[in-house]
Amino acid sequence: MKLWGGRFDKETDSLMEEFNASISFDQRLYEEDIRGSMAHCRMLGACGIIASEEAELINKALAEILTEIKEGKLEFTAALEDIHMHVEKRLLDKIGPVGGKLHTARSRNDQVALDMHLYVKKEIIVTVSLIKNLQQVLLAAAEENLDTVMPGYTHLQRAQPVLFAHHLLAYFWKLQRDRERFQDAYKRADRLPLGAGALAGTTFPIDPKMVAAELDFANIYENSMDAVSDRDFVVEFLANASLLMAHLSCLSEDIILWNSQEFAFIQLDDAFTTGSSIMPQKKNPDVAELVRGKTGRVYGHLLALLTTLKGLPLAYNKDLQEDKEGLFDTVDTIKNCLVLYAALLRTMKIDKQRMYAAVAGDFASATDLADYLVRKGLPFREAHAVVGRLVGKCIAENRRLVDLTVTELRAHSLLFAEDALACLTPQACVEARSSYGGTAQSAVKEQLKQAKKEIKE
Ligand code: ARG
Repeated sequence: MKLWGGRFDKETDSLMEEFNASISFDQRLYEEDIRGSMAHCRMLGACGIIASEEAELINKALAEILTEIKEGKLEFTAALEDIHMHVEKRLLDKIGPVGGKLHTARSRNDQVALDMHLYVKKEIIVTVSLIKNLQQVLLAAAEENLDTVMPGYTHLQRAQPVLFAHHLLAYFWKLQRDRERFQDAYKRADRLPLGAGALAGTTFPIDPKMVAAELDFANIYENSMDAVSDRDFVVEFLANASLLMAHLSCLSEDIILWNSQEFAFIQLDDAFTTGSSIMPQKKNPDVAELVRGKTGRVYGHLLALLTTLKGLPLAYNKDLQEDKEGLFDTVDTIKNCLVLYAALLRTMKIDKQRMYAAVAGDFASATDLADYLVRKGLPFREAHAVVGRLVGKCIAENRRLVDLTVTELRAHSLLFAEDALACLTPQACVEARSSYGGTAQSAVKEQLKQAKKEIKE
């Protein structure tokens, strides 16, 4: 008989049982579930709602059940629906009817909400530390590439020279915001829903403050109906994960391009690439491609939950059971992506010469030539046109800007003097951009200092 079977005359249909059960995935919450139950039970004892010997007996059995599950000794079955029922049934089997007192002043609705809060809080802490780890890898690579010049791109067209360190650090700051977002979301997850009962509170003189203190919650829900229906904190986790994946996906695109034979700016390590079953020469950037690909499923989980929540009447509805699989898959996905990415970046080889050749053989210094004319007093728009004509001439003659003579420059503007060509080297272009947050080495060093500070805090 079901733990809730009293008013039923018929057995549950087996199709219904399978459809309704969440044990295949919510078994992941067993630690949170038991930890929450133990805190609840201690509170029931302390408040005299059950006898303190009963509370002790129940908690001793709960501790044993925890070990049993950890050791894989508890068998899960759809007939017992979810993790909450499995634990309670096992408790009853172990200590008899007194085990039935655990669920006093509690419902599965506030119980599952509690489990989810505990789980999200735990996983936020893990995520934050994995993001930080990846940021550290980026920092280390940036420090080693303070003099590595490469083409910076817009529209994937060579735009202006930048330091490779600068490019890497751009991702550091994106990850910094991701980390801050997860840390901020922690505040909303840090609110105790237990005590809300099914939806309206409880008739027993419970002490939620005691439970909050034991389970390390900073706050308690002010409204029991909000407490059992709120999944905002799960949505926030998924939204933050989605942005994180967006950033990793963009980084993947850069990595895949750089690792191609056309760019050949980097070489990924054998240990983090794969071969082709047919083409013997292939070495594929699968980590980056998989991260880029997995971004879609994380976005999907966010949209799925938002849609599930839309239009639910208060308070608890079984729809809310759908909050779990997407969250669990997201947690696994972002963890794997962050760990693999750190390894991928740590082991990649950088071809500084190739990067330099790409930027030296191009028109990436055109803006600097225009800026030169501006410093001589020409309005920028006119300077842009003059240099545009020079670029056109070079393309027609298959030359580069650095190949031009001063006489040729002066044929287009008499403002050009002997020193004009000096501003055309990639290093000069980089060094000239010493504005705050710019790519000049001095500015990037300043940026590195700030980045290190963020990591320490
Ligand atoms: N498995 C359920 C869930 O994940 C637990 C809560 C069930 N509550 C209920 N009243 N049936 O949401």
